[in-house]
Amino acid sequence: MDTHLGQWLNLALRWGHVITGVAWIGTSFYFNWLNSRLAPPPPERAEPGVAGELWSVHGGGFYRVVKYAVAPTRLPPTLHWFKWEAYATWLTGFALLAWVYYVGAAAYLVDPQVSRLGPRAAIAVGLGTLLGAWVVYDALCRSRLANSPLALAATLFVLGTGLAWGLTQLLAPRAAYLHVGAALGTIMAANVLMVIIPSQRDMVTALTEGRAPDAARGAQAALRSLHNNYFTLPVLFIMVSSHYPETYGHTLSWLILAGLALVGVATRHWFNLRNEGRPNGWLLPGAALAMVALAVVTAPRRADRTGAYERAGANPTAGNTASFAEVRVIMARRCAPCHSAAPTVPGLTTPPRGVAFDTPEQIRTRADRILVMAATTHTMPLGNVTGMTDEERALVARWIRAGALLR
Ligand code: HEC
Repeated sequence: MDTHLGQWLNLALRWGHVITGVAWIGTSFYFNWLNSRLAPPPPERAEPGVAGELWSVHGGGFYRVVKYAVAPTRLPPTLHWFKWEAYATWLTGFALLAWVYYVGAAAYLVDPQVSRLGPRAAIAVGLGTLLGAWVVYDALCRSRLANSPLALAATLFVLGTGLAWGLTQLLAPRAAYLHVGAALGTIMAANVLMVIIPSQRDMVTALTEGRAPDAARGAQAALRSLHNNYFTLPVLFIMVSSHYPETYGHTLSWLILAGLALVGVATRHWFNLRNEGRPNGWLLPGAALAMVALAVVTAPRRADRTGAYERAGANPTAGNTASFAEVRVIMARRCAPCHSAAPTVPGLTTPPRGVAFDTPEQIRTRADRILVMAATTHTMPLGNVTGMTDEERALVARWIRAGALLR
């Protein structure tokens, strides 16, 4: 397809995915909060079967919500379900994944520096990850392990970390991260489709038939809802992770992902405890501290930093064989076909992400970013269509590490 139209399709899918995702997570956060704030109604408003009520004011109106201990004696003609937010989020997300990473597999999914997997095999790994994650997760939730929610959670965390490690050995770093998120997102949406909604349907049928709802089903649905609750924040990070090469581009990227997932889970737990009226004083500061620790651990070594040699007053050219003249030629040949005010690659009319490397200043000011995109990781050149060699990457890296000086 025409590159320009392809970008518009990308935009439409991403926009749709963000809108439906916000709707899904928004309702889920709202009901979590609601559940924890319901209080028994005062005696004068007591109604048979009503367990709690909540008053709120929003957007110029007063609202009173009541929750039934089991179910109302008679169902109203319209009952609102919350499921299309979840399904639409998955559908738009999967379409976007397929469009960016599968149709564009050569540029985004495979990385010859990581493994010898070709586009087809890598797509199979991607699709297999989504399906396999659900099959394994579902089996674990139905196993005896589910009797101990904490042991189950620990097992899921170890498996998730293992999956992240395995994917970073097979796919391009960004794609590896994204597939961990897509696997979790698939589990979340499948939980709604296969377990939570069927259990709610059973509740409604049980009510109309005058029998008690299936308790085991209800318990499974509650377990899956709990998992979805804790998966939310890690998944949200992964969905924006492609902006952060310092995470996916690190040699221990899978471990960094595990660390950030724990930060997300701890943050969610803080909200849950707060909602239950048991605020915890150290979870949020702990999560913040863990973020600082991750930032410190992943920091480039001192000499890696642009200008470090210069600041230290050392001779910038000592032991450095890379001159700006050489770098400039490499950038013009390998990057500027796309990253230029007038790109020469067919289909491009503007420099990607507004990043152009036409002038020495443009190259120097983005040196840190060039280092991580083209040397630490091989994210750029995209799909290495311009055939950048390892020697060229090493040379550019040497130049940047020596201070990125324009001489
Ligand atoms: C075939 C076209 C193409 C070539 C060649 C190319 N890039 Fe890119 N670059 C892109 C596209 C498309 C994006 C934006 C989308 C993305 O991130 O995948 C991008 C984004 C970037 C960004 C911004 C990403 C960010 O998160 O900051 C940087 C920096 C970058 N490229 C550096 C380079 C460098 C350095 C080279 C040469 C070694 C290079 N690119 C070669 C297409 C290309």
